[in-house]
Amino acid sequence: MVSWPHKHILTLSNFSKDDYKSVFELTERFKSLINAGTKKIPALQGNLITSIFFEASTRTRNSFELAAKRLSADVQSFSPSSSSLSKGETLIDTAQTYAAMGSDILIIRHSSSHIPLEISKKLDAFNAKTSVLNAGDGLHSHPSQGLLDLYTLIKFFSPESLKPEVLNSKKILIIGDVIHSRVARSNLWGLTAFGANIILCGPPTLIPEEFTNFVSSPPPNQLTDPISSRGSITISRSLDESIKYADAVIVLRLQKERMMENLLSSIKSYSDNYCLTPEKISMNEKDIPILHPGPINRGIEISSRIVDEYPNCLINDQVSNGVPIRMALLYLLSKFKK
Ligand code: CP
Repeated sequence: MVSWPHKHILTLSNFSKDDYKSVFELTERFKSLINAGTKKIPALQGNLITSIFFEASTRTRNSFELAAKRLSADVQSFSPSSSSLSKGETLIDTAQTYAAMGSDILIIRHSSSHIPLEISKKLDAFNAKTSVLNAGDGLHSHPSQGLLDLYTLIKFFSPESLKPEVLNSKKILIIGDVIHSRVARSNLWGLTAFGANIILCGPPTLIPEEFTNFVSSPPPNQLTDPISSRGSITISRSLDESIKYADAVIVLRLQKERMMENLLSSIKSYSDNYCLTPEKISMNEKDIPILHPGPINRGIEISSRIVDEYPNCLINDQVSNGVPIRMALLYLLSKFKK
């Protein structure tokens, strides 16, 4: 019987190495079942899972809902525009309504940071058994994306058997709009937990110097860091320079919808300097893997020639791995002793 210490999954900053390994071992098992053609297993039969998305989503929402269906859970989908929010109901009351209906897990995406945390605190105060799973909150955290990125990289470097230790001392280059990226923040917690050294590459407006201290101990709102020693974070302003040393690259979407002020002189000048192209990759002598959480802006942060033709472009693997990763998270939350 698997045991799991977290009632809610809101961030990766409180994950221990055992937590990551529990997720990845289950992911391997679910992935084998999917690859063997098993469409459904009865693991969460009788469970009710509710997805509450206040922001657009293709990958996260659909793969969570598919994961829940593959585990035979009942799935409810909340749509803000046709809900009683339009009659003045609060978000907390909405969440409590789903808890009162017997929802076991609320999967929540919101444009404001820490909304899933606030909801989890209220539900706990009401002694609700319902778990909250953060599907992306503001600029804060996107734990399931961080986990699927981590898993995809580990599988690339250890395809036969899953060995998270392969990331130790690897140089992972993260390019682009870090300041607006909850994915990057989750990547930083996850990758440094296994000793990867991160190079953040982009202009100062998108990567302020303080990001070098991002994983300083203890993490925000925690008394301790469950990881005793983390990899480092450095910043480079030059893609031509930093790409030479990378063992893997994660490209981030330029989040124009979150840019409240003019952070770039022009999109063209950004692309001229930081768009990942085959020419940039050829400055590195290794066959490095390329990841992107999606959705992609072709020709702005990543060239179509990489997305469509580069053999080690892992974007589709990330999407495929998202389903068993999310099956593992839903299953583990069901094992938390309430
Ligand atoms: N990566 C990601 O969160 O994609 P969606 O916005 O499509 O869910």
